[in-house]
Amino acid sequence: MEFSIKSGTPETQRTATVVVGVFEPRNLTSAAAAIDKAAKGHLSKVLKSGDIDGKVGTSLLLHGVPGVAAERVLLVGLGKESDFGDKAFRNAIAKAIASVNEIGGSDATIMLTELAVSKRNAMWRVRQAVMVAADTVYRFDQLKSKKESPRSALKNVAFVVAAGEVTGAKSALAEGHAIAAGQHLMKDLANLSANYCTPSYLADQAKVLAREHKLGVDILDRSDMKKLGMNTLLAVAQGSAEPPKLVVLKYNGGTKGAKPIVLVGKGVTFDTGGISLKPAPEMDEMKYDMSGAASVFGTIKAAAMMKLPLNIVGITPITENMPGGKAIKPGDVVTSMSGQTVEILNTDAEGRLILCDALTYAERFNPDCVVDIATLTGACVVALGSVACGVMGNDDALTNELLASGQESGDRAWQLPLWDDYQEQLKSNFADMANIGGRMAGTITAACFLARYTKKYQWAHLDVAGTAWRGGDKKGSTGRPVPLLTHFLMQRASKAKAPAKATRKK
Ligand code: BES
Ligand code: MN
Ligand code: ZN
Repeated sequence: MEFSIKSGTPETQRTATVVVGVFEPRNLTSAAAAIDKAAKGHLSKVLKSGDIDGKVGTSLLLHGVPGVAAERVLLVGLGKESDFGDKAFRNAIAKAIASVNEIGGSDATIMLTELAVSKRNAMWRVRQAVMVAADTVYRFDQLKSKKESPRSALKNVAFVVAAGEVTGAKSALAEGHAIAAGQHLMKDLANLSANYCTPSYLADQAKVLAREHKLGVDILDRSDMKKLGMNTLLAVAQGSAEPPKLVVLKYNGGTKGAKPIVLVGKGVTFDTGGISLKPAPEMDEMKYDMSGAASVFGTIKAAAMMKLPLNIVGITPITENMPGGKAIKPGDVVTSMSGQTVEILNTDAEGRLILCDALTYAERFNPDCVVDIATLTGACVVALGSVACGVMGNDDALTNELLASGQESGDRAWQLPLWDDYQEQLKSNFADMANIGGRMAGTITAACFLARYTKKYQWAHLDVAGTAWRGGDKKGSTGRPVPLLTHFLMQRASKAKAPAKATRKK
Protein backbone atom coordinates (compact mmCIF):
# COMPACT_ATOMS: atom_id res chain seq x y z
CA MET A 1 0.00 0.00 0.00
CA GLU A 2 1.34 3.39 -1.05
CA PHE A 3 0.48 6.58 0.80
CA SER A 4 0.50 10.16 -0.38
CA ILE A 5 -0.48 13.60 0.83
CA LYS A 6 -2.96 15.82 -0.97
CA SER A 7 -4.89 18.94 -0.29
CA GLY A 8 -7.96 20.33 -2.02
CA THR A 9 -11.70 20.13 -2.01
CA PRO A 10 -13.44 16.77 -1.67
CA GLU A 11 -15.78 17.12 -4.65
CA THR A 12 -12.86 17.60 -7.06
CA GLN A 13 -10.78 14.58 -5.92
CA ARG A 14 -10.25 12.22 -8.86
CA THR A 15 -10.29 8.94 -7.01
CA ALA A 16 -12.29 5.75 -6.82
CA THR A 17 -13.50 6.54 -3.31
CA VAL A 18 -13.45 9.79 -1.40
CA VAL A 19 -13.91 9.31 2.36
CA VAL A 20 -15.60 11.98 4.47
CA GLY A 21 -16.75 12.00 8.07
CA VAL A 22 -20.12 12.50 9.72
CA PHE A 23 -20.45 13.42 13.39
CA GLU A 24 -23.23 12.19 15.61
CA PRO A 25 -26.13 12.99 15.27
CA ARG A 26 -25.88 13.52 11.48
CA ASN A 27 -23.56 16.56 11.57
CA LEU A 28 -21.60 16.94 8.38
CA THR A 29 -17.88 17.66 8.62
CA SER A 30 -16.82 20.53 6.37
CA ALA A 31 -15.67 18.03 3.72
CA ALA A 32 -19.03 16.26 3.85
CA ALA A 33 -20.78 19.62 3.67
CA ALA A 34 -18.76 20.54 0.57
CA ILE A 35 -19.83 17.31 -1.11
CA ASP A 36 -23.39 17.93 -0.06
CA LYS A 37 -23.27 21.37 -1.62
CA ALA A 38 -21.76 20.09 -4.87
CA ALA A 39 -24.37 17.34 -4.93
CA LYS A 40 -27.20 19.79 -4.27
CA GLY A 41 -28.23 18.35 -0.94
CA HIS A 42 -27.85 14.66 -1.81
CA LEU A 43 -25.98 13.83 1.41
CA SER A 44 -28.46 15.67 3.61
CA LYS A 45 -31.21 13.61 2.03
CA VAL A 46 -29.35 10.35 2.66
CA LEU A 47 -28.71 11.36 6.26
CA LYS A 48 -32.35 12.24 6.78
CA SER A 49 -33.32 8.79 5.59
CA GLY A 50 -31.49 7.50 8.67
CA ASP A 51 -29.05 5.17 6.89
CA ILE A 52 -26.13 6.54 8.91
CA ASP A 53 -26.26 8.35 12.23
CA GLY A 54 -22.61 9.28 12.73
CA LYS A 55 -21.91 6.70 15.43
CA VAL A 56 -18.34 5.41 15.72
CA GLY A 57 -17.85 2.22 13.72
CA THR A 58 -20.59 2.94 11.17
CA SER A 59 -20.09 3.68 7.49
CA LEU A 60 -22.15 4.08 4.34
CA LEU A 61 -21.04 3.77 0.73
CA LEU A 62 -22.71 5.95 -1.90
CA HIS A 63 -22.35 5.43 -5.65
CA GLY A 64 -22.70 8.04 -8.35
CA VAL A 65 -23.12 11.07 -6.14
CA PRO A 66 -23.92 13.95 -8.53
CA GLY A 67 -21.45 16.83 -8.88
CA VAL A 68 -18.57 14.81 -7.41
CA ALA A 69 -15.48 13.70 -9.36
CA ALA A 70 -14.95 10.54 -7.28
CA GLU A 71 -16.72 7.34 -8.31
CA ARG A 72 -17.92 6.70 -4.78
CA VAL A 73 -18.33 8.57 -1.53
CA LEU A 74 -17.78 6.71 1.72
CA LEU A 75 -19.32 8.28 4.80
CA VAL A 76 -17.68 7.30 8.07
CA GLY A 77 -19.23 7.84 11.49
CA LEU A 78 -17.02 9.82 13.90
CA GLY A 79 -19.10 9.88 17.07
CA LYS A 80 -19.87 13.13 18.87
CA GLU A 81 -17.77 16.09 17.74
CA SER A 82 -17.07 17.03 21.37
CA ASP A 83 -15.59 13.54 21.99
CA PHE A 84 -13.46 13.46 18.85
CA GLY A 85 -10.04 12.59 20.28
CA ASP A 86 -7.17 10.19 19.60
CA LYS A 87 -9.21 7.03 19.88
CA ALA A 88 -12.16 8.13 17.74
CA PHE A 89 -9.75 9.41 15.10
CA ARG A 90 -7.90 6.10 14.92
CA ASN A 91 -11.16 4.15 14.84
CA ALA A 92 -12.46 6.28 11.98
CA ILE A 93 -9.31 5.72 9.91
CA ALA A 94 -9.44 1.98 10.59
CA LYS A 95 -13.09 1.82 9.59
CA ALA A 96 -12.44 3.82 6.42
CA ILE A 97 -9.54 1.62 5.35
CA ALA A 98 -11.33 -1.62 6.19
CA SER A 99 -14.48 -0.56 4.30
CA VAL A 100 -12.64 0.55 1.18
CA ASN A 101 -10.54 -2.61 1.24
CA GLU A 102 -13.64 -4.77 1.63
CA ILE A 103 -15.32 -3.38 -1.46
CA GLY A 104 -12.11 -4.10 -3.36
CA GLY A 105 -11.26 -0.49 -4.14
CA SER A 106 -7.68 0.03 -5.25
CA ASP A 107 -7.43 3.70 -4.42
CA ALA A 108 -8.97 6.12 -1.96
CA THR A 109 -8.67 9.73 -0.87
CA ILE A 110 -9.28 10.22 2.82
CA MET A 111 -10.46 13.60 4.03
CA LEU A 112 -10.45 12.59 7.71
CA THR A 113 -6.84 13.72 8.25
CA GLU A 114 -7.88 17.36 7.86
CA LEU A 115 -10.23 17.14 10.85
CA ALA A 116 -9.24 18.82 14.11
CA VAL A 117 -8.30 16.33 16.83
CA SER A 118 -7.92 18.06 20.17
CA LYS A 119 -4.28 18.88 21.04
CA ARG A 120 -3.00 17.13 17.90
CA ASN A 121 -1.46 18.68 14.81
CA ALA A 122 -1.52 17.53 11.20
CA MET A 123 1.78 15.66 11.56
CA TRP A 124 0.38 13.58 14.41
CA ARG A 125 -2.80 12.88 12.44
CA VAL A 126 -0.91 11.74 9.36
CA ARG A 127 1.56 9.59 11.31
CA GLN A 128 -1.28 7.90 13.13
CA ALA A 129 -3.34 7.48 9.97
CA VAL A 130 -0.50 5.70 8.19
CA MET A 131 0.15 3.42 11.18
CA VAL A 132 -3.54 2.57 11.60
CA ALA A 133 -4.00 1.97 7.87
CA ALA A 134 -1.01 -0.37 7.69
CA ASP A 135 -2.21 -2.21 10.79
CA THR A 136 -5.72 -2.59 9.37
CA VAL A 137 -4.61 -4.32 6.17
CA TYR A 138 -1.87 -6.44 7.80
CA ARG A 139 -2.32 -10.19 7.27
CA PHE A 140 0.00 -13.03 8.21
CA ASP A 141 -0.24 -15.73 5.57
CA GLN A 142 3.34 -17.01 5.39
CA LEU A 143 2.18 -20.40 6.64
CA LYS A 144 -1.01 -20.77 4.60
CA SER A 145 -0.73 -22.99 1.54
CA LYS A 146 -3.06 -20.66 -0.38
CA LYS A 147 -2.10 -17.00 -0.05
CA GLU A 148 -4.84 -14.38 -0.07
CA SER A 149 -4.34 -12.78 -3.43
CA PRO A 150 -3.96 -9.93 -3.62
CA ARG A 151 -3.06 -9.39 0.03
CA SER A 152 -4.80 -6.05 0.07
CA ALA A 153 -6.97 -4.66 -2.71
CA LEU A 154 -6.15 -1.15 -1.60
CA LYS A 155 -3.03 0.09 -3.36
CA ASN A 156 -3.02 3.89 -3.13
CA VAL A 157 -4.25 5.92 -0.21
CA ALA A 158 -4.09 9.71 -0.19
CA PHE A 159 -4.55 11.61 3.03
CA VAL A 160 -5.84 15.15 2.69
CA VAL A 161 -4.62 18.04 4.82
CA ALA A 162 -4.96 21.82 4.59
CA ALA A 163 -2.69 23.44 2.01
CA GLY A 164 -0.45 25.01 4.66
CA GLU A 165 0.12 21.63 6.31
CA VAL A 166 1.35 19.72 3.26
CA THR A 167 5.10 20.00 3.91
CA GLY A 168 4.88 18.82 7.52
CA ALA A 169 2.42 16.12 6.55
CA LYS A 170 4.82 14.74 3.97
CA SER A 171 7.57 14.21 6.53
CA ALA A 172 5.02 12.77 8.95
CA LEU A 173 3.99 10.37 6.20
CA ALA A 174 7.56 9.11 5.91
CA GLU A 175 7.76 8.75 9.69
CA GLY A 176 4.48 6.87 9.87
CA HIS A 177 5.64 4.62 7.05
CA ALA A 178 8.89 3.82 8.88
CA ILE A 179 7.10 3.02 12.14
CA ALA A 180 4.59 0.85 10.28
CA ALA A 181 7.44 -1.01 8.57
CA GLY A 182 9.08 -1.64 11.94
CA GLN A 183 5.79 -2.91 13.35
CA HIS A 184 5.28 -5.10 10.30
CA LEU A 185 8.66 -6.73 10.83
CA MET A 186 7.93 -7.31 14.50
CA LYS A 187 4.53 -8.84 13.72
CA ASP A 188 5.91 -11.18 11.09
CA LEU A 189 8.58 -12.47 13.47
CA ALA A 190 6.25 -12.86 16.46
CA ASN A 191 3.47 -14.50 14.45
CA LEU A 192 5.82 -17.05 12.89
CA SER A 193 5.52 -20.34 14.76
CA ALA A 194 8.40 -21.44 16.94
CA ASN A 195 9.32 -24.43 14.76
CA TYR A 196 10.35 -21.88 12.11
CA CYS A 197 11.21 -18.95 14.33
CA THR A 198 14.16 -20.45 16.22
CA PRO A 199 17.10 -18.54 17.71
CA SER A 200 19.11 -19.34 14.56
CA TYR A 201 16.29 -18.04 12.36
CA LEU A 202 16.13 -14.76 14.28
CA ALA A 203 19.90 -14.38 14.04
CA ASP A 204 19.61 -14.87 10.28
CA GLN A 205 16.84 -12.27 10.11
CA ALA A 206 19.08 -9.84 11.99
CA LYS A 207 21.70 -10.36 9.31
CA VAL A 208 19.12 -9.66 6.59
CA LEU A 209 18.05 -6.50 8.41
CA ALA A 210 21.67 -5.43 8.80
CA ARG A 211 22.31 -5.88 5.09
CA GLU A 212 19.18 -3.94 4.13
CA HIS A 213 19.94 -0.97 6.33
CA LYS A 214 23.73 -1.03 6.52
CA LEU A 215 23.79 -1.92 10.22
CA GLY A 216 26.61 -3.53 12.14
CA VAL A 217 25.74 -7.03 13.34
CA ASP A 218 27.45 -9.47 15.71
CA ILE A 219 26.07 -12.89 16.52
CA LEU A 220 27.40 -14.46 19.70
CA ASP A 221 27.00 -18.22 19.98
CA ARG A 222 27.26 -20.63 22.86
CA SER A 223 31.06 -20.65 22.96
CA ASP A 224 31.22 -16.83 22.97
CA MET A 225 28.71 -16.78 25.81
CA LYS A 226 30.78 -19.28 27.76
CA LYS A 227 33.87 -17.12 27.39
CA LEU A 228 31.95 -14.08 28.62
CA GLY A 229 30.50 -15.98 31.58
CA MET A 230 26.88 -15.56 30.50
CA ASN A 231 25.86 -18.47 32.67
CA THR A 232 22.27 -17.47 33.42
CA LEU A 233 21.55 -17.12 29.69
CA LEU A 234 23.27 -20.45 29.06
CA ALA A 235 21.35 -22.03 31.95
CA VAL A 236 18.02 -21.25 30.27
CA ALA A 237 19.33 -22.52 26.92
CA GLN A 238 20.71 -25.81 28.22
CA GLY A 239 17.35 -27.59 28.18
CA SER A 240 16.87 -26.96 24.48
CA ALA A 241 18.21 -28.66 21.37
CA GLU A 242 18.27 -25.29 19.60
CA PRO A 243 21.51 -23.37 20.09
CA PRO A 244 21.10 -19.93 21.73
CA LYS A 245 22.19 -16.71 20.02
CA LEU A 246 22.90 -13.25 21.27
CA VAL A 247 22.39 -10.75 18.49
CA VAL A 248 23.97 -7.30 18.59
CA LEU A 249 22.72 -4.78 16.02
CA LYS A 250 24.41 -1.41 15.64
CA TYR A 251 22.92 1.58 13.91
CA ASN A 252 25.34 4.49 13.67
CA GLY A 253 23.38 7.51 12.53
CA GLY A 254 24.78 9.82 15.19
CA THR A 255 28.04 11.64 15.55
CA LYS A 256 31.06 9.43 15.95
CA GLY A 257 31.72 8.71 19.59
CA ALA A 258 28.26 9.85 20.76
CA LYS A 259 27.03 7.48 23.48
CA PRO A 260 24.51 5.00 22.11
CA ILE A 261 20.98 4.33 23.24
CA VAL A 262 20.93 0.62 23.99
CA LEU A 263 17.78 -1.45 23.50
CA VAL A 264 17.74 -4.91 25.07
CA GLY A 265 14.97 -7.31 24.00
CA LYS A 266 13.92 -10.64 25.48
CA GLY A 267 14.03 -13.29 22.78
CA VAL A 268 12.52 -16.51 24.10
CA THR A 269 11.36 -18.13 20.86
CA PHE A 270 9.23 -20.53 22.86
CA ASP A 271 8.53 -20.55 26.59
CA THR A 272 7.30 -23.92 27.84
CA GLY A 273 8.22 -22.88 31.37
CA GLY A 274 10.99 -25.48 31.43
CA ILE A 275 10.83 -28.02 34.26
CA SER A 276 8.37 -25.64 35.96
CA LEU A 277 6.16 -26.51 33.01
CA LYS A 278 3.32 -24.20 31.98
CA PRO A 279 -0.25 -25.55 31.75
CA ALA A 280 -1.40 -26.65 28.27
CA PRO A 281 -4.16 -24.09 27.52
CA GLU A 282 -2.88 -21.24 25.36
CA MET A 283 0.71 -22.43 25.58
CA ASP A 284 0.86 -21.95 21.79
CA GLU A 285 0.91 -18.21 22.46
CA MET A 286 4.33 -18.52 24.09
CA LYS A 287 5.82 -18.29 20.60
CA TYR A 288 5.47 -14.53 21.10
CA ASP A 289 7.85 -14.56 24.07
CA MET A 290 10.47 -13.19 21.68
CA SER A 291 8.46 -10.00 21.16
CA GLY A 292 11.01 -7.89 23.05
CA ALA A 293 13.73 -8.95 20.62
CA ALA A 294 11.39 -8.50 17.65
CA SER A 295 10.49 -5.00 18.84
CA VAL A 296 14.18 -4.13 18.99
CA PHE A 297 14.61 -5.32 15.38
CA GLY A 298 11.52 -3.38 14.32
CA THR A 299 12.49 -0.20 16.13
CA ILE A 300 16.00 -0.21 14.70
CA LYS A 301 14.52 -0.73 11.25
CA ALA A 302 12.24 2.29 11.76
CA ALA A 303 15.12 4.41 13.08
CA ALA A 304 17.29 3.46 10.11
CA MET A 305 14.50 4.24 7.63
CA MET A 306 14.11 7.66 9.24
CA LYS A 307 17.87 8.14 9.30
CA LEU A 308 17.71 9.36 12.89
CA PRO A 309 20.91 11.15 13.96
CA LEU A 310 21.54 8.75 16.83
CA ASN A 311 23.74 5.81 17.67
CA ILE A 312 21.65 2.82 18.67
CA VAL A 313 22.71 -0.64 19.83
CA GLY A 314 20.23 -3.51 19.98
CA ILE A 315 21.10 -6.48 22.19
CA THR A 316 18.83 -9.50 22.00
CA PRO A 317 19.51 -12.69 23.96
CA ILE A 318 17.64 -15.45 22.12
CA THR A 319 16.86 -18.99 23.25
CA GLU A 320 14.08 -21.51 23.78
CA ASN A 321 12.96 -22.40 27.31
CA MET A 322 12.52 -26.18 27.19
CA PRO A 323 12.35 -29.03 29.74
CA GLY A 324 15.06 -31.21 28.15
CA GLY A 325 17.23 -33.79 29.88
CA LYS A 326 19.90 -31.19 30.49
CA ALA A 327 17.46 -28.51 31.61
CA ILE A 328 18.01 -26.46 34.74
CA LYS A 329 16.16 -27.70 37.80
CA PRO A 330 14.43 -25.69 40.51
CA GLY A 331 17.03 -24.97 43.17
CA ASP A 332 19.97 -24.82 40.77
CA VAL A 333 22.36 -21.96 41.55
CA VAL A 334 24.07 -20.20 38.67
CA THR A 335 26.64 -17.37 38.53
CA SER A 336 25.61 -14.60 36.15
CA MET A 337 28.07 -12.61 34.02
CA SER A 338 27.97 -9.86 36.66
CA GLY A 339 29.34 -12.29 39.24
CA GLN A 340 26.10 -12.28 41.26
CA THR A 341 24.68 -15.73 41.96
CA VAL A 342 21.06 -16.70 41.37
CA GLU A 343 18.99 -19.50 42.85
CA ILE A 344 16.58 -20.58 40.13
CA LEU A 345 13.49 -21.44 42.13
CA ASN A 346 11.20 -21.39 39.11
CA THR A 347 12.50 -22.21 35.63
CA ASP A 348 9.53 -20.33 34.15
CA ALA A 349 11.00 -17.03 35.36
CA GLU A 350 13.53 -17.37 32.52
CA GLY A 351 13.20 -13.95 30.93
CA ARG A 352 15.06 -12.16 33.71
CA LEU A 353 17.79 -14.83 33.56
CA ILE A 354 18.62 -14.15 29.94
CA LEU A 355 18.14 -10.39 30.30
CA CYS A 356 20.47 -9.97 33.26
CA ASP A 357 23.46 -11.21 31.27
CA ALA A 358 22.48 -9.07 28.28
CA LEU A 359 22.17 -6.04 30.60
CA THR A 360 25.64 -6.69 31.98
CA TYR A 361 26.93 -7.05 28.44
CA ALA A 362 25.36 -3.64 27.63
CA GLU A 363 27.91 -1.94 29.93
CA ARG A 364 30.65 -2.33 27.34
CA PHE A 365 28.87 0.05 24.96
CA ASN A 366 29.10 2.91 27.46
CA PRO A 367 25.40 3.60 27.01
CA ASP A 368 23.67 6.94 27.18
CA CYS A 369 20.74 4.93 28.52
CA VAL A 370 19.41 1.38 28.32
CA VAL A 371 15.80 0.37 27.73
CA ASP A 372 14.87 -3.29 27.98
CA ILE A 373 11.70 -4.71 26.49
CA ALA A 374 10.27 -8.03 27.61
CA THR A 375 7.13 -10.13 27.76
CA LEU A 376 8.22 -10.69 31.32
CA THR A 377 5.28 -11.40 33.61
CA GLY A 378 1.74 -12.71 33.54
CA ALA A 379 1.22 -10.40 36.52
CA CYS A 380 1.58 -7.41 34.20
CA VAL A 381 -1.28 -8.74 32.07
CA VAL A 382 -3.38 -8.98 35.23
CA ALA A 383 -2.43 -5.45 36.36
CA LEU A 384 -2.69 -3.47 33.12
CA GLY A 385 -4.44 -5.76 30.63
CA SER A 386 -3.74 -5.07 26.99
CA VAL A 387 -4.11 -1.29 27.21
CA ALA A 388 -0.78 -0.16 28.64
CA CYS A 389 2.58 -1.80 29.09
CA GLY A 390 4.32 -1.50 32.45
CA VAL A 391 7.31 0.81 32.86
CA MET A 392 9.82 0.92 35.69
CA GLY A 393 13.37 2.17 35.96
CA ASN A 394 16.14 3.83 37.94
CA ASP A 395 15.88 7.30 36.38
CA ASP A 396 12.70 9.38 36.57
CA ALA A 397 13.57 11.56 33.58
CA LEU A 398 13.99 8.50 31.35
CA THR A 399 10.79 6.92 32.67
CA ASN A 400 8.90 10.14 32.01
CA GLU A 401 10.25 10.32 28.47
CA LEU A 402 8.94 6.82 27.81
CA LEU A 403 5.56 7.59 29.37
CA ALA A 404 5.25 10.70 27.19
CA SER A 405 6.26 8.77 24.06
CA GLY A 406 3.60 6.20 24.85
CA GLN A 407 0.97 8.91 25.12
CA GLU A 408 2.10 10.64 21.94
CA SER A 409 2.26 7.47 19.84
CA GLY A 410 -0.94 5.94 21.17
CA ASP A 411 1.13 3.00 22.43
CA ARG A 412 0.66 3.74 26.09
CA ALA A 413 2.70 2.79 29.14
CA TRP A 414 2.01 3.11 32.86
CA GLN A 415 4.53 3.33 35.66
CA LEU A 416 4.70 0.91 38.58
CA PRO A 417 6.78 1.70 41.67
CA LEU A 418 10.24 0.18 41.76
CA TRP A 419 10.84 0.82 45.44
CA ASP A 420 13.61 -0.92 47.32
CA ASP A 421 11.03 -2.34 49.73
CA TYR A 422 10.17 -4.93 47.09
CA GLN A 423 13.77 -6.16 46.84
CA GLU A 424 13.32 -8.18 50.05
CA GLN A 425 11.07 -10.60 48.19
CA LEU A 426 14.06 -11.83 46.17
CA LYS A 427 15.98 -13.09 49.23
CA SER A 428 17.56 -16.54 48.89
CA ASN A 429 19.08 -18.80 51.55
CA PHE A 430 21.53 -20.26 49.06
CA ALA A 431 22.55 -17.52 46.60
CA ASP A 432 22.72 -13.73 46.25
CA MET A 433 19.12 -13.69 45.08
CA ALA A 434 16.25 -15.91 43.98
CA ASN A 435 14.80 -15.56 40.50
CA ILE A 436 11.24 -15.22 41.81
CA GLY A 437 9.68 -13.04 44.49
CA GLY A 438 6.50 -14.84 45.46
CA ARG A 439 2.91 -14.23 44.46
CA MET A 440 2.67 -10.55 45.28
CA ALA A 441 3.73 -7.69 42.96
CA GLY A 442 5.17 -10.08 40.38
CA THR A 443 5.80 -7.41 37.75
CA ILE A 444 7.69 -5.25 40.22
CA THR A 445 9.82 -8.04 41.68
CA ALA A 446 10.79 -9.07 38.13
CA ALA A 447 11.97 -5.50 37.52
CA CYS A 448 13.70 -5.52 40.94
CA PHE A 449 15.71 -8.50 39.74
CA LEU A 450 16.80 -6.59 36.61
CA ALA A 451 17.56 -3.49 38.68
CA ARG A 452 20.40 -5.41 40.32
CA TYR A 453 22.16 -5.59 36.96
CA THR A 454 21.60 -2.02 35.76
CA LYS A 455 23.25 0.09 38.43
CA LYS A 456 25.93 1.48 36.12
CA TYR A 457 23.68 3.38 33.71
CA GLN A 458 20.29 5.03 33.30
CA TRP A 459 17.83 2.26 32.72
CA ALA A 460 14.16 1.61 32.11
CA HIS A 461 12.23 -1.61 31.66
CA LEU A 462 9.07 -2.17 29.62
CA ASP A 463 6.95 -5.20 30.50
CA VAL A 464 4.95 -5.79 27.32
CA ALA A 465 3.41 -9.17 28.18
CA GLY A 466 -0.09 -7.70 27.87
CA THR A 467 0.37 -5.35 24.92
CA ALA A 468 2.58 -7.20 22.44
CA TRP A 469 -0.05 -9.79 21.68
CA ARG A 470 -3.76 -9.95 21.00
CA GLY A 471 -5.72 -13.01 22.09
CA GLY A 472 -9.11 -14.22 20.87
CA ASP A 473 -10.25 -14.36 17.25
CA LYS A 474 -7.88 -11.57 16.20
CA LYS A 475 -5.02 -13.54 17.74
CA GLY A 476 -1.63 -12.24 16.71
CA SER A 477 1.16 -9.75 17.29
CA THR A 478 0.25 -6.08 17.75
CA GLY A 479 3.64 -4.67 16.79
CA ARG A 480 3.80 -2.87 20.15
CA PRO A 481 5.93 -1.26 21.59
CA VAL A 482 7.58 -0.27 18.29
CA PRO A 483 5.57 3.00 18.12
CA LEU A 484 6.46 3.97 21.70
CA LEU A 485 10.16 3.18 21.24
CA THR A 486 10.38 4.92 17.88
CA HIS A 487 8.74 8.07 19.25
CA PHE A 488 11.20 7.99 22.12
CA LEU A 489 14.09 7.83 19.65
CA MET A 490 12.58 10.57 17.49
CA GLN A 491 12.38 12.80 20.56
CA ARG A 492 15.99 12.05 21.43
CA ALA A 493 16.98 12.71 17.83
CA SER A 494 15.33 16.12 17.77
CA LYS A 495 17.20 17.00 20.96
CA ALA A 496 20.47 15.71 19.51
CA LYS A 497 19.95 17.81 16.40
CA ALA A 498 18.89 21.10 17.96
CA PRO A 499 22.22 22.30 19.44
CA ALA A 500 24.11 21.38 16.28
CA LYS A 501 21.80 23.62 14.24
CA ALA A 502 22.20 26.51 16.66
CA THR A 503 25.99 26.41 16.51
CA ARG A 504 25.95 26.29 12.73
CA LYS A 505 23.94 29.52 12.56
CA LYS A 506 26.52 31.49 14.53
N1 BES B 1 6.83 -15.33 29.26
C1 BES B 1 6.27 -15.39 30.56
C2 BES B 1 5.38 -14.21 30.90
C3 BES B 1 4.09 -14.13 30.15
C4 BES B 1 2.95 -14.70 30.67
C5 BES B 1 4.01 -13.44 28.97
C6 BES B 1 1.76 -14.58 29.99
C7 BES B 1 2.82 -13.33 28.31
C8 BES B 1 1.69 -13.90 28.82
C9 BES B 1 7.40 -15.43 31.60
O1 BES B 1 8.54 -16.07 31.20
C10 BES B 1 6.85 -16.18 32.77
O2 BES B 1 6.57 -17.32 32.61
N2 BES B 1 6.73 -15.50 33.90
C11 BES B 1 6.22 -16.11 35.07
C12 BES B 1 7.02 -15.62 36.23
C13 BES B 1 6.72 -16.35 37.51
C14 BES B 1 7.20 -17.78 37.42
C15 BES B 1 7.40 -15.63 38.64
C16 BES B 1 4.77 -15.72 35.21
O3 BES B 1 4.41 -14.58 34.91
O4 BES B 1 3.96 -16.58 35.56
MN1 MN C 1 8.44 -18.16 31.53
ZN1 ZN D 1 8.92 -16.09 29.18
